[in-house]
Amino acid sequence: MSTTLIDVRPAKFADAAAVASAHDDAWRSAYQGIIPGAELDKLINRRGPLWWQSAIRKGSRVSVLVFSDKVAGYANYGRNRARSLRFEGEIYELYLRPEFQGLGFGRRLFTAVRRDLVQSGLKSMVIWALSDNEPAIAFYRALGGRVVARSSEQFGAKTLDKVAFAWNC
Ligand SMILES: CC(C)(COP(=O)(O)OP(=O)(O)OC[C@H]1O[C@@H](n2cnc3c(N)ncnc32)[C@H](O)[C@@H]1OP(=O)(O)O)[C@@H](O)C(=O)NCCC(=O)NCCS
Repeated sequence: MSTTLIDVRPAKFADAAAVASAHDDAWRSAYQGIIPGAELDKLINRRGPLWWQSAIRKGSRVSVLVFSDKVAGYANYGRNRARSLRFEGEIYELYLRPEFQGLGFGRRLFTAVRRDLVQSGLKSMVIWALSDNEPAIAFYRALGGRVVARSSEQFGAKTLDKVAFAWNC
């Protein structure tokens, strides 16, 4: 039992099942009706507790937002993967369980992760969001992100547009 009600901290090995569960709930609620059902199931099923245990063991950067000892959401991040973009860091994923959305936790997690990237020398960063994910687009705009690139991604037979937001730290 911790005395801190809300905390953002690096994920521990023991968090793997809770992060997998947060990932499952958040992705189903965010992408139902956007990503075709069978593709969404595949994306979720390959990210079970073992996948997260392995990622945490290998030292991938994963932070969790813990509310009253429950993992409310997670973010994973590191170096920017797209060579065509000149930004140094990237938040690969930032997701909250549906019941913890709209309470300021997303901003809190984002701010902590951004600080962590800056502290490790990555002074600018990018985040990709599907264009149809309107709440995420509104969130990144509210946080001051600038649209710097557009692209698309294939999900089974469906092609979805995506947009990159960037921040200079
Ligand atoms: C997107 C997400 C991370 C935002 O976190 P959140 O806790 O719900 O957002 P916050 O309460 O911290 O809001 C921060 C700001 O964004 C704005 N915002 C958040 N969601 C919004 C929405 N749907 N529409 C308009 N503005 C929104 C808030 O008004 C707030 O602005 P303010 O601080 O100027 O008042 C969260 O809702 C989530 O996990 N969604 C599902 C998963 C997802 O889509 N992740 C992103 C994948 S790219």
